Amino acid sequence: LAAIEIKLADVPEGQTKTFEWRGKPVFVKHRTAQEIKREKSVNVSDLRHPEHDDQRVQKDEWSVVIGVCTHLGCVPIANAGDFGGYYCPCHGSHYDGSGRIRKGPAPLNLHVPAYTFKDDVIVIGS
Ligand code: FES
Repeated sequence: LAAIEIKLADVPEGQTKTFEWRGKPVFVKHRTAQEIKREKSVNVSDLRHPEHDDQRVQKDEWSVVIGVCTHLGCVPIANAGDFGGYYCPCHGSHYDGSGRIRKGPAPLNLHVPAYTFKDDVIVIGS
């Protein structure tokens, strides 16, 4: 499918769900107030791939990323690792709750796909 629609109500606060889009996993994370605060307060200059959370989300409650590790392409595990986001078990990359690489060999943050909010759904792709 070129585009998929994900109902916001299907991803409760505090949870991350995996969907499939163009043959790849997409992680949709419904962040809590505490998680949002943590990601916003990260010092961007400390990051390997410096991106502020504001550059990676459209609405603070929702983080949408492609679930393909930027090291060698394994699928990370959601809600795992040392930084409240994702852990790639292949060689030990840790991503935070914004999908940014924080520890391990991956060179780049998890990719953010093109998406839009429409009523009570997120439309990924076009
Ligand atoms: Fe993810 Fe190597 S493929 S750490």
